[in-house]
Amino acid sequence: MEVTNVMEYEAIAKQKLPKMVFDYYASGAEDQWTLAENRNAFSRILFRPRILIDVSRIDMTTTVLGFKISMPIMIAPSAMQKMAHPEGELATARAASAAGTIMTLSSWATSSVEEVASTGPGIRFFQLYVYKDRNVVAQLVRRAERAGFKAIALTVDTPRLGRREADIKNRFVLPPYLTLKNFEGLNLGKMDQANDSGLASYVAGQIDRTLSWKDVQWLQTITKLPILVKGVITAEDTRLAIQAGAAGIIVSNHGARQLDYVPATIMALEEVVKAAQGRIPVFLDGGVRRGTDVFKALALGAAGIFIGRPVLFSLAAEGEAGVRKVLQMLREEFELTMALSGCTSLKEITRDHVTTDWDLPRTHPRPLPRL
Ligand code: FNR
Repeated sequence: MEVTNVMEYEAIAKQKLPKMVFDYYASGAEDQWTLAENRNAFSRILFRPRILIDVSRIDMTTTVLGFKISMPIMIAPSAMQKMAHPEGELATARAASAAGTIMTLSSWATSSVEEVASTGPGIRFFQLYVYKDRNVVAQLVRRAERAGFKAIALTVDTPRLGRREADIKNRFVLPPYLTLKNFEGLNLGKMDQANDSGLASYVAGQIDRTLSWKDVQWLQTITKLPILVKGVITAEDTRLAIQAGAAGIIVSNHGARQLDYVPATIMALEEVVKAAQGRIPVFLDGGVRRGTDVFKALALGAAGIFIGRPVLFSLAAEGEAGVRKVLQMLREEFELTMALSGCTSLKEITRDHVTTDWDLPRTHPRPLPRL
């Protein structure tokens, strides 16, 4: 049967993938409250479309950190993509580049920065996890720079791995025929089987729990690349990120895989946007599955969005063609949403094009109680 929306790839991936792999991709932390909320919150935002505007031409292009892309829809970093498909991150990189958008490569990719660069031209960001051994970090950042990556997305919500119970039950571990390719030469590319989640043990052993704002400044002493701080969801941390020299913020709760019961990212977005005061761009990821979601995020002030799981599920289902299709479907849905809302370019998308539950009572008049 023909796939007509992004969500349908999840069921196909579930059929195709080993349970351990599907569960790792799909899961959230603990009660998975935030996982559901990342999606549900979008349904609390409704449109206030404008009519009788010439929408015969629609421009979805935008500029991110000075790089022009075809649409404000980008690819979030997600680890270990070769578990989904033999071509893994290489297929994702090709699909992103064909769509004229940005791919973010995970530190924990099963393809190296050099291999991804060798797929051809494309604008790519590198997601960084900070290891206890800072020589490892410095080497990796240098390799990403040489391989032509244009920015570092520094993930700041993972001093420890969130409690993902499916991974504990499945004793999740990277399959032995794969490695965390960026760390292969450093003897950190393998993941040992553990009594719980092999990844949680790996993180506990290697990732630096002491990471703090001063390390964001340290990072700027070892690289000229702009730094996006990924995982901010409060105004307080937005201000600190700007002070620390961040080039942008990604409002993210790590796809609901870290701290459960944090708000949906789309609910946290406006707080961050207001605190950023237009000084640096604010992006969002988490639960974006429809063009309408993209529009809502932009209306609430995001400069662009990233998608995570849809890439993994479509990759599992159809490889590069699947990822291309996901990007194409989101592009078409977003274009249609713009047209039906009366917007012909991204700058025309405003806060007045949406109304949210938290805007009451202006646009959701409640019936007066009967006397
Ligand atoms: C992730 N995410 C993630 N983030 C990161 O900074 N480094 C990483 O290696 C990973 N790996 C990863 C693996 C898997 C299986 C998932 C689902 C997610 C988080 C990712 O970048 C992004 O924040 C979320 O996936 C966005 O939410 P959606 O689109 O998956 O709902």
